Amino acid sequence: MTTRTRILTGITTTGTPHLGNYAGAIRPAILASQDANADSFYFLADYHALIKCDDPQRIQRSRMEIAATWLAGGLDVNRVTFYRQSDIPEIPELTWLLTCVAAKGLLNRAHAYKASVDKNVEAGEDPDAGISMGLYSYPVLMAADILMFNAHKVPVGRDQIQHVEMARDIGQRFNHLFGNGKEFFTMPEALIEESVATLPGLDGRKMSKSYDNTIPLFTSAKDMKDAISRIVTDSRAPGEAKDPDNSHLFTLYQAFATKAQEEEFRGELLQGLGWGEAKNRLFQLLDGQLGEARERYHQLMSRPSDMEDLLLVGAKKARAVAAPFLAELREAVGLRSFVNQAAAPVSAKKKAAKTARFVSFREDDGSFRFRLLAADGEQLLLSRNFADGKAAGAVTKQLQSGQALDVRTEGLRFSVWLDGAAVADSAEFADPASLDAAVEALRIALAPLED
Ligand code: TRP
Repeated sequence: MTTRTRILTGITTTGTPHLGNYAGAIRPAILASQDANADSFYFLADYHALIKCDDPQRIQRSRMEIAATWLAGGLDVNRVTFYRQSDIPEIPELTWLLTCVAAKGLLNRAHAYKASVDKNVEAGEDPDAGISMGLYSYPVLMAADILMFNAHKVPVGRDQIQHVEMARDIGQRFNHLFGNGKEFFTMPEALIEESVATLPGLDGRKMSKSYDNTIPLFTSAKDMKDAISRIVTDSRAPGEAKDPDNSHLFTLYQAFATKAQEEEFRGELLQGLGWGEAKNRLFQLLDGQLGEARERYHQLMSRPSDMEDLLLVGAKKARAVAAPFLAELREAVGLRSFVNQAAAPVSAKKKAAKTARFVSFREDDGSFRFRLLAADGEQLLLSRNFADGKAAGAVTKQLQSGQALDVRTEGLRFSVWLDGAAVADSAEFADPASLDAAVEALRIALAPLED
């Protein structure tokens, strides 16, 4: 049995990695993989790349560049499982199984899809203009990436937290529908590296290709130097004291310096080091730290077949985990061999699971609460806090008694009231229609509990 923490993350292969990608994602992931307790799965999200890019040359170049960046950065492929998403046919297959349990309403709420819809509406276009099913289903594919390998921790940027939460939601629903008491999927958690999450770009905003403010990573020393010379600084002249804490040049330096180097640089800025010289120092630091890796990078890029071999070994390792697991999942949903097929009895447990149920739990502060879950596992209500289990129990009993429900709507949420007090609340809904549907679902859920 392994108790190691499974860490999994992917990078969409549409661009050339820049300094921000390296410091914010790749470097911390490589470091994390060196921990003896880590079992790391890192991959090139090249199926995801097809969602935003229809230029085959660019996809291919980016896959190679990102692979070479991980390897040049010191990733030890003997320690980790490093692969291309598109080399694992089990992933699209799992995507379909998950697509069939993912609520459409859940995907309607995905930020990336919503942003595209909002943009269309603003432009007076059809809301779904130019939106592919790939973009819409993006979070389901990502859920498959994560759930396929039962990842515990998923290092991502802030914009991806919602997707990891969706993976939990979809995985939970699958567990509930087909697990028959067994939890097929581990619930993943997003991991945000606070200290390095965002490196500023040339203009001080987050370094990002979309702002065109990046510092190239491994292309060449000259490119790096040219970019550094374009870092925006204030207009203080050489000899004037600089304010390190309000300088993104200093922030960039910090991200690669030791504590001692950082303090020395801070002192020099305070004493009036000119910005030109400061840029020179930053270049020296980065070149010193990344120069060797740059060389490895260019070597790797000049021998693509070596990388191909490494990635095929990685795919084999990944599939050794994915294939038997997927076989189990196919079995669970009823895609089974016709041979040796015993008619599966409907267990009492499965029958019971077909109705809604109350699940109570205790908060850290000692109070008691409960959730009401629909037959499909969706949460219908979350109760307020009760001082003791007895009080919470009395409320669930009353809710099941068949008496008329007192449902009060407020904005896009509703509460259930008993004896003049709100006892439980719904989640927030996207629109009035979803709210109405949820109230209806609540009434249905509570009706059959009477007998
Ligand atoms: N969507 C992620 C991004 O654009 C990349 C990605 C795809 C990913 N699948 C993943 C990240 C699974 C973590 C886990 O950044």
